Amino acid sequence: MSRFWSPLVHRLTPYVPGEQPKIHNIIKLNTNESPYGPSPKALEAMRAASDDSLRLYPDPESLALREAIARREGLTPAHVFAGNGSDEVLAHAFQAFFNHGDPVLFPDITYSFYPVYCGLYGLPFETVALDAGMNLPLSGFDRPNSGIVIANPNAPTGIALSRADIEKLVMAHPDRVVLIDEAYVDFGAETAVPLVKKYPNLLVVQTFSKSRALAGLRVGFALGDPALIEGLSRVKDSFNSYPLDRLAQAGALAAYEDEDWLRQSVNKVIATRTTLATSLTELGFEVLRSSANFVYAWHPDRDAATLAAALRERAIIVRHLKGPRTSPWLRVTIGTDAQCTALTEALREILRLNA
Ligand SMILES: Cc1ncc(COP(=O)(O)O)c(C=O)c1O
Repeated sequence: MSRFWSPLVHRLTPYVPGEQPKIHNIIKLNTNESPYGPSPKALEAMRAASDDSLRLYPDPESLALREAIARREGLTPAHVFAGNGSDEVLAHAFQAFFNHGDPVLFPDITYSFYPVYCGLYGLPFETVALDAGMNLPLSGFDRPNSGIVIANPNAPTGIALSRADIEKLVMAHPDRVVLIDEAYVDFGAETAVPLVKKYPNLLVVQTFSKSRALAGLRVGFALGDPALIEGLSRVKDSFNSYPLDRLAQAGALAAYEDEDWLRQSVNKVIATRTTLATSLTELGFEVLRSSANFVYAWHPDRDAATLAAALRERAIIVRHLKGPRTSPWLRVTIGTDAQCTALTEALREILRLNA
């Protein structure tokens, strides 16, 4: 509290990021980072970019990166926006598209930054309740709205909608932007990007933080009709013209072009996810079918917060989200095979001790 704050700052409820522990040797399965390092080509590109040219501002348009993304997707650079992590891209999108008087709609259990953006920009919002199986009933969006936001796959559940379902939603709301947050799409969901050319109201947001293992670099991007990209650029250039520094542009470009590395890394995560889901099920957890780099699980006989605390004592951190519907659940990032084995061994011991 401070008398110097603007009234809005008093009213904000900021997002609380997952813990980034200062201690080493911890098994960190709480913020959906990749357990593998980024593409060696990305690291090399960033080393090469670390020279005297850092005295100059970076390209404010991130054109080389946007061209590479556009080329791969059969789009033009005018369809691509790049920002400082997808969080920034999302924030700009909320400000650019969702202020039309009606509420913004998103699921009741989803990425908890969405309501925070609404608070920051003074946007009313309503939520659509996931059903008992944590699936999203599309009929819930049949009401007046200023825009729709869906994480696909959803976080923290990991459950994905099909592209056909997304298309139905986009078609049903032609006068509103439907934003699909595809932070985890590479781990097994159908991307909506092929629909971008067809629908001027679809915005797809992706990130380098998860499948490309570059959470520390802060690069995200959006794909949409050039008019939507222009809207985002107008907000960006009213906020920070240089969201991506020189190293980020060089590293992201090289990472984007290293498709072999991406495929190998994603395949390893998917294989470990299958093994982990089986092990957790054997320990009595119910595990949702995940298309992401994490699993969402709960144990019918155990308190999730207690389990998370017991894991923490054993130097393993997972994410427990408070809230009426999420408190029975644990969200566990897929680590290496060794990390996931350590997790299941620790859980086996905890469950036996408390039996
Ligand atoms: C659904 C979802 N969207 C967006 C983000 C933000 O990713 P970043 O800002 O690192 O690109 C996250 C991060 O965990 C996420 O879970």
